[in-house]
Amino acid sequence: MNMHNWPKESVLIAPSILSADFAHLADDADHALKAGGDLLHIDVMDGHFVPNLTFGPALVKSLHAALPDAFLDVHLMVEDPALFVEPFIDAGADHVSFHVEPLGLDACVALAERVRTLGATAGITINPPTPADAILPALDAFDLILVMSVNPGFGGQAFIPEVLDKVRTISPLLRPEQRLEMDGGIAPETAQAAREAGCTVLVAGSAIFGLPQPERAGAIRTLRGS
Ligand code: DX5
Ligand code: ZN
Repeated sequence: MNMHNWPKESVLIAPSILSADFAHLADDADHALKAGGDLLHIDVMDGHFVPNLTFGPALVKSLHAALPDAFLDVHLMVEDPALFVEPFIDAGADHVSFHVEPLGLDACVALAERVRTLGATAGITINPPTPADAILPALDAFDLILVMSVNPGFGGQAFIPEVLDKVRTISPLLRPEQRLEMDGGIAPETAQAAREAGCTVLVAGSAIFGLPQPERAGAIRTLRGS
């Protein structure tokens, strides 16, 4: 299982650049990392799988050139993730997560193998309405499981607590080197619930980039529970 250079802390905080200042993206993202963020979460949306449109490989290439030491966690919210894994990995993505909903589990298992062959780690993602059963038969095929706690498409949405039951189901089934990421509506109180349920990577956009820069380090410590 190729878990290349994932940061080693027990609970990782992944600032989501969807809520960053796009006019000063590299500086704002760098600040979030210097404030304690462990990796950058990059939300790629195609306007079909979700009703929003965001970043392409060219943006990841520029961000990687500006922040070569940053671990880039690319979240593909797209109808056809197989089309995009190689361009994003070539652009500098260290990890790529894609959704089971458009592909089905068997195709996701094959895509995860291809992602690892290309030198990145691979994550499978389930939306709030998707049951854990949709991925349980093949958990072993993925380096990371991403459980969405909002319906994907936008930052600043309310956390959906019902998804925590899926985390409690999945967490005990994972090997120590596999990670369980929660994404959407993560703030101090929901972060604690997610950690207690078994999440080891927490994505946060508005709870970090929505704050003035001087307040971010304290916010990240709170999300981590430290
Ligand atoms: C939503 C994205 C999330 C989002 C999180 O589709 O996948 O990563 O940016 O934003 P917050 O933390 O503000 O809910
Ligand atoms: Zn995301």
